[in-house]
Amino acid sequence: MKGLLLAGGHGTRLRPLTYTGNKHMLPIANKPMLLYGLEHLKNAGIEEVGVILGPIKEGVTEMLGDGGSFGVRITYLDQPEPKGLAHAALVAEEYMKGEPFVMYLGDNLLREGVGNFVRTFQAKDLDCLVGVCPVKDPTRFGIAEMNGEKLVRLVEKPEHPESNLALIGVYLFDETIFDAAKSIKPSGRNELEITDAIQHLLSSGKKVEALRVTSWWKDTGRPEDLLEANQLVLADMEESIEGYISERTQLTGCLKLGSGSKTIGEVTIRGPVVIGRNCSVGPNVYLGPYTSIGDDCTLKDVEVENTIVMGRSRIESRKRIVDSLIGSNSTILDASDHLPKGYKLIIGERSFAQI
Ligand code: DAU
Repeated sequence: MKGLLLAGGHGTRLRPLTYTGNKHMLPIANKPMLLYGLEHLKNAGIEEVGVILGPIKEGVTEMLGDGGSFGVRITYLDQPEPKGLAHAALVAEEYMKGEPFVMYLGDNLLREGVGNFVRTFQAKDLDCLVGVCPVKDPTRFGIAEMNGEKLVRLVEKPEHPESNLALIGVYLFDETIFDAAKSIKPSGRNELEITDAIQHLLSSGKKVEALRVTSWWKDTGRPEDLLEANQLVLADMEESIEGYISERTQLTGCLKLGSGSKTIGEVTIRGPVVIGRNCSVGPNVYLGPYTSIGDDCTLKDVEVENTIVMGRSRIESRKRIVDSLIGSNSTILDASDHLPKGYKLIIGERSFAQI
């Protein structure tokens, strides 16, 4: 069994965070989201992984290399334009050489991993297995209509959904998927939809089944999803303190503090909170639950809660920062007291600010 990890696409919904890089490199609890999928594939015993990349490759190839440091062999597969998930599968046809594979969408997080999916697919000798999970907003997803445990129909982002079971970004296929992907037409959004290709398999009598996820699953397509994914991962985190905690630091809840990082003077931390390596936190800092601070950050005189601060950022401000995503290398400072009251903002195109 091989793996296919998708890291192509435009990432438009996560702009401006994705203007300068691949969205799959955005950190969830200080780990690039793409690594969650890669680790799941590896933990399910998959050693050969094809990684689909579009034009925005920044960071991905440097991080993954040939896969050796993650215990897998990686082959990069070029998809010059994001023409759809079924198109991405077709790009991988030659690489798969007829072997069955797990296709994992690189912007999905799935707590339970994919081991159970692989075992079920093999034990039942299926042509295709999809994962499903109930959602509140079924119009945003591919939807599975089921009769008991039997999969009846699949529809991509239906206007009037007949079910609340979303297709999660984990699909197991044998080689029959390639003919199905070649038989379908592009959808209204001009993509070859994997949902349509699977519906084609189902209609032509192939063995297609759905497996319900047993824990949480998160698609990180929108900025608010990143914060929610960060919460879910931090809630499971185990404490580890490699850095230095000052005497006047008040700590409750779980903290992960990276090596070379320190708290200085009065600091209050209410976990779960993760602080990367070589950070300086304090004095007069409050870090509230579900906050992730990337490597090499400096925080002073500030309150931060339920927020992702990416690496190499500096925040020195008496304002309270909540529910925020702060891109790497950012600086947030208070305006000088001598200046007229007001905000001085230098923020990227299509940014969102609430002040
Ligand atoms: O997250 C689950 C959903 O993923 C499913 O419920 C839908 O049925 C499925 O179509 C897909 O919907 P999205 O609209 O969320 O897909 P998105 O365009 O965000 O792409 C998903 C991932 O695949 C993302 O990591 C980017 C990558 N991708 C996407 C396309 C269209 C590629 O690598 N190549 C592509 O051509």
